[in-house]
Amino acid sequence: MIEDRKQFGQLLKDKQLNGYGVELGVATGHFSNHILNTSSLKVLFSIDRWNDHHTYQEYVRAASMLSQHRERSVILKMPFEKQYIYLKMKYLILYT
Ligand SMILES: C[S@@+](CC[C@H](N)C(=O)[O-])C[C@H]1O[C@@H](n2cnc3c(N)ncnc32)[C@H](O)[C@@H]1O
Repeated sequence: MIEDRKQFGQLLKDKQLNGYGVELGVATGHFSNHILNTSSLKVLFSIDRWNDHHTYQEYVRAASMLSQHRERSVILKMPFEKQYIYLKMKYLILYT
């Protein structure tokens, strides 16, 4: 068990969950960044529509920050509903 979501990346490591993950709802991207920094996930899909008060500018800033993780970070700018069915059977879903 973990007491703080900041420990989540380490939990993934401890459980040897090193494959693919998904964060549904990314906003500024700080939690995606934290997961990528603290886990050994091969790829984290960061999905957000960024089309309301979470703006396109926020998406650009998140994408810029996450670009440091290169191929480990895949950003999908779209509604969850479009990807969820396809991803849920295969990957760990983080809804934060
Ligand atoms: C609370 S914020 C996410 C916070 C982020 N997980 C964190 O830890 O900093 C919720 C995000 O979900 C996104 N969102 C909400 N409903 C969505 C939907 N149906 N499809 C795509 N994105 C959605 C919003 O655009 C917003 O950026």
